[in-house]
Amino acid sequence: MRTTYCGVLGAENIDQEITLCGWVDRRRDHGGVIFIDLRDREGIVQVVFDPDGGEHFERADTVRSEYVLQVKGKVRARTPETVNPEMPTGEVEIYGLELVILNTSDTPPFPLDEHNKVGEDVRLKYRYMDLRRPEMLKNLRFRSEVTATIRDYLDDKGFLDIETPILTRATPEGARDYLVPSRTHDGKFFALPQSPQLFKQLLMVSGIDRYYQIAKCFRDEDLRADRQPEFTQVDVELSFTSEEEIMAINEEMIRSVFQKVLDVDLGHFPRMPYYEAMDRFGSDKPDLRIPLELVEIKDLMAAVDFKVFSGPANDPKGRVTALRVPGGSSISRKKIDDYTKFVSIYGARGLAYIKVNDKDDLEEGLQSPIVKFLPNEVRGAILERTGAENGDLIFFGADKGKIVSEALGALRCKLGADLDLYTCEWAPLWVVDFPMFEDTGDGNWTSLHHPFTRPACTPEELESNPENALSLAYDMVLNGTELGGGSIRIHNPDMQKSVFHVLGISDEEANEKFGFLVDALSYGCPPHGGLAFGLDRLIMLMTGSDSIRDVIAFPKTQTAACVLTNAPGAVDKKQLRELNIKLREKPASEKPASEQTSTEKESNA
Ligand code: AMO
Ligand code: AMP
Repeated sequence: MRTTYCGVLGAENIDQEITLCGWVDRRRDHGGVIFIDLRDREGIVQVVFDPDGGEHFERADTVRSEYVLQVKGKVRARTPETVNPEMPTGEVEIYGLELVILNTSDTPPFPLDEHNKVGEDVRLKYRYMDLRRPEMLKNLRFRSEVTATIRDYLDDKGFLDIETPILTRATPEGARDYLVPSRTHDGKFFALPQSPQLFKQLLMVSGIDRYYQIAKCFRDEDLRADRQPEFTQVDVELSFTSEEEIMAINEEMIRSVFQKVLDVDLGHFPRMPYYEAMDRFGSDKPDLRIPLELVEIKDLMAAVDFKVFSGPANDPKGRVTALRVPGGSSISRKKIDDYTKFVSIYGARGLAYIKVNDKDDLEEGLQSPIVKFLPNEVRGAILERTGAENGDLIFFGADKGKIVSEALGALRCKLGADLDLYTCEWAPLWVVDFPMFEDTGDGNWTSLHHPFTRPACTPEELESNPENALSLAYDMVLNGTELGGGSIRIHNPDMQKSVFHVLGISDEEANEKFGFLVDALSYGCPPHGGLAFGLDRLIMLMTGSDSIRDVIAFPKTQTAACVLTNAPGAVDKKQLRELNIKLREKPASEKPASEQTSTEKESNA
C-alpha cells in the first residue's frame, strides 16, 4: 500500500513519486491550500493539497485528526523561508496528487500533544492512542533494540533460549502468588511464576549448561514507580561456574548494551559488601552518583544527657548516625520540617540537625535545637568525624538500626535529587556478601534473596549461627536502582534441607512444595548459578523515564488493574461452577472504608 515511511523523507528524495500511509497529526487550511501533517511510526511529513487536486483536494478538506490516509504525491523542496529545521523531514514537503481515506476516527480522547493534561488513567484506558505518541513509540523501539542486543550477546556466548511454564507451582521470591484455579483438579490451584528460578535450576540438572529467557514474572505485591505485578526478567543460569564468571558475563552484557544503544561506556563496576553499603549509604542499593555518606556516631552519644540519642546508642540493635550536607545551612526551616515529615514515612521519630555557622566556636557557632544537650567535646568530635565546614548542615538519625538506615538512606537520595548533587550520570556497582537471612522481628528468619541461594558456610555452621551466615549472592545496582540479582545455588540436598530448617519450613512442607527440586539435586546436579535482570527497570533507567509504566506497552495501574480491558473482571456463574468455586460475600469489617456503605461504616465504628 505504500512505498516509504513518512518520517524518513529528506532532500535526497526530491522529485520522487511516493505513496505514504499514516495518521493525520494536524490539518491546517491556509487560504485555499490544505496542509496535512501525516504521521507514521517513523515520524511526520507535511503534505500539501491545492485546488488543482480536484476531488482529492476536496477530500483533504474533510479529514480530521487521527484519520488514516493513503497519499500519493511528489517530494519537493520547501522554499527557504518555509524550511523547518526542528523537523527531521523539514527540508521537504509532499505535493499531494491522490488521497484515499482508509479510515475515519472519532475525536481522540485527548490530543496526543496534550497528554499531560489528562490523568494517567485516561492514557491507560486509551493506551493504543497513547502509544501513537512519538515519545512512547521511541521507548518501545528502544526496548526492542535492547532485547535484540541482549539476545545477540547471550546467543554469542552459547546460552540457549528456553521457555519455562507459566502455569506452575509457587516460586518463592518474597511476594504473594497470583493463583489460577484448576478445573480438572478439584480444589487445586496453579501459581503463576514469580520467576523461572526453579525451572532454570532444573535445566542445569538436565545438562543445558547455559540458559537464558526473556521471561514474564508475576508478583502480587505493593506497587511503586519501579514495580509492576507482571514484569519481564532477563533470566540467566549457567553450570560449572563461579561468582566471578557470572558477574563478568553479566557486567559485560550490560556494558555492551549501554555502549551499543546509548554510546555510553559504563567502565568497570566497583564492588561493595552489603554491610559497607548499609553503613555508608543506609541502603543495599546505594546511589553512588550522590557524594553524601552516613557517619557512625554511636560511640559519641552513649553518655550524652539526651535520651533520643543515648537510648539507641546503648541499644545493641540501635544506630546513631550523622549525614553532612555541604553548604546545607541555607536549607530553610520549612524545608527541614518537610524532610522531617519525609523521614517519618520510614518510621523516624524526628530529624535532629545542626547548622554549622562557625566550626571554631563550639558555644555560639552551632545552630540547632539539640546542641544544648551535647557537651563541647562531643560537638567537636561530630564536626571532626563528619568533616564539617562552615555553611554545612548535619542531619541526625537515632533509632533501631533498620529505621535509621532506611530513613537516612532515603533522605540522602532525596537531598541528592533536591539539591542536584549528582557527580556523574551513571553509577553502576555490584553489592556482594549479602547475609543469608533477615530477621522477621518475631524470632523467625526469612531469605534475603531466595531459599536456593548457597550459603558461604557449611550446613552445620548455618544452622548453629544463621544470623552471621553470608550468601554467595550479588546484586547489580545502577543509580540507586536494583537492576538485577542472583547467586550461586545450592546443589547439595543436605544444604538445601538445612536452609529449609532455618526458615522454619518443616520436612513435610518442604517435601510437598519443593520435593521435586530436592530430588533433582540428588540426581547429579552440577554446581550452578545465575542472575536475573529487571528488563523494565533497565529500560526505564536507559530512557530516563520516571516510571516503568512508560516503557511497558500495556502496563497495570497502581492498583494492579488494566483499565483498557477492565481486567481483572467478573466471571459468570457457569465458569465458577465448573471450577467449584463459590464467592464469599466480604464482611463489612474486611472492606476498605471506601467500599463500605454508610450503615456498614456506622456498625464498624
Ligand atoms: P529478584 O527477585 O531479585 O531475583 O528479581 C530480579 C530482578 O527483577 C526485577 N524485579 C521487578 N521489576 C519490576 N517489577 C517487579 N515487581 C519486580 N520484582 C523484581 C528487579 C530485580 O533485580 N530468581 C531470582 C534471580 C536469580 O537468583 O537468578 C529473582 O527473581 O530488577
Ligand atoms: P524532641 O526531644 O522529641 O523534641 O526532639 C528534639 C530534636 O530531636 C528535634 O529536632 C527532633 O526532630 C529530633 N529527634 C527526635 N527524635 C529523633 C530521632 N529518633 N532521630 C533523630 N532526631 C530526632
